[in-house]
Amino acid sequence: MDIKELKRLDKELIWHPYTQMKDFEKRDLLFVDRARGIHLFDIDGKKYYDTISSWWCITHGHNHPVIRKHIKDQLERLDQVHFAGTTHKGPIILCKNLKEYLPGELSKFFFSDNGSTAVEVALKMSLQYFKQMGEEKRHLFVSLERGYHGDTIGTMSLGGVPAFEGPFSEITFKSIKVPPPYCYRCPIDYKNYDPERGRKCSLECFDLLERAIKENRERICALVLEPLLMGAGGMITYPKKYLKRARDITEEYGIHLILDEVATGFGRTGKMFAMDHVKIVPDFLCLSKGLTGGTLPLAVTVTKREIFDAFYADYSEGKTFFHGHTFTANPICVSSALGSLEVFKEENVLSKLRDRVQYLQEKKGELFELEIVGDIRGIGMVCAFELVKDKGTREPFPSKKRIGWQVYLAGLKRGLILRPLSDVIYLFLPLCTKREEIDDIILRTKETLKEVEKTL
Ligand SMILES: Cc1ncc(COP(=O)(O)O)c(C=O)c1O
Repeated sequence: MDIKELKRLDKELIWHPYTQMKDFEKRDLLFVDRARGIHLFDIDGKKYYDTISSWWCITHGHNHPVIRKHIKDQLERLDQVHFAGTTHKGPIILCKNLKEYLPGELSKFFFSDNGSTAVEVALKMSLQYFKQMGEEKRHLFVSLERGYHGDTIGTMSLGGVPAFEGPFSEITFKSIKVPPPYCYRCPIDYKNYDPERGRKCSLECFDLLERAIKENRERICALVLEPLLMGAGGMITYPKKYLKRARDITEEYGIHLILDEVATGFGRTGKMFAMDHVKIVPDFLCLSKGLTGGTLPLAVTVTKREIFDAFYADYSEGKTFFHGHTFTANPICVSSALGSLEVFKEENVLSKLRDRVQYLQEKKGELFELEIVGDIRGIGMVCAFELVKDKGTREPFPSKKRIGWQVYLAGLKRGLILRPLSDVIYLFLPLCTKREEIDDIILRTKETLKEVEKTL
């Protein structure tokens, strides 16, 4: 079948995620043919930097030979088996290897197959735990406005990105949402933050969270947070102290802390996990995306022994956790995760990362000279540029201007796959991105933004 016909069939048959299909009425989708390292190649052989790590999951670059070998070997032995009442070698070794990177208290692993389900599992476990402990009144969850935890009904109930959840408000459950520590648009006073000099406040925004927890302390199961980096809500980075205090206050009120490290896990923030920057231990840790190096779908919710113990009883007591997915701990996906952890170890990924992170975080400042760049923020291998109509007043562009979409199209011409979050342009780079590649990506991003700036 020739490419023209494939493209026609795509439009006839496929409904793509997070895509207004009408945008492609007169335009082709980017037709990707192959990938190597940090690059994707389209059907005509044109090379693109995978600047968003293929939706934040590619860790060591595409097609890493170690991961490929693990998958090939596994395919020879066992392809799939249900995980209720059966087990196999891969998940056992994977948990043992993962444990080396986790605080000792996080010692019980529940597998699923994507980021949303990793969070759903934590929510259900937390709620059932409190029921089984006789704390029947606890059924609420606290989360942040602009937070994102997935697209299932449960995770949407916690989410705070209005465009994603709007049409579903009648069927999502009630949760307590608190204004986030979004420094550039500080919920207390925008003067608390200067984009060039940083924050000058005493974290008054934390009081909003503290108050919400205090007022509802007997009805709350858990606080759910994306640690240090709120991804889909606009790549918002926030102070470590906020996260530390969140752990303290949840402990004080006997509430669970669920850390959603689906996006931040596996080195993306410069440490294996974002929680390692603060040295806190959550009650639940949700992992996916980078778990397999980004090659295959897999997720795990890690929790503490004491939570597991509340479910461990004679069957007749009705304490079983009735949750599971067909592809729970699929052997091939697990082999990919084993391969990725081997790469972390054998290639000293975390120690090599330090220099790259420092370089990217210095380099990103070069874009501040552009008139449309209102704020620059970042952590680890992630940096973001918030575009504004007026740098002085921080006035955003009217949404109908679709600045992000214009940047996306201009980026493609320069071999970048930028997928802006509204007016926030970001780089979410594979951990193996080298200094000279960072230079080139930043330069191309700058040229892309200059082109869009000229059209305004
Ligand atoms: C923080 C966070 N949680 C959960 C999810 C949902 O993951 P998935 O798309 O695999 O369901 C995402 C996806 O972007 C995420 O960034």
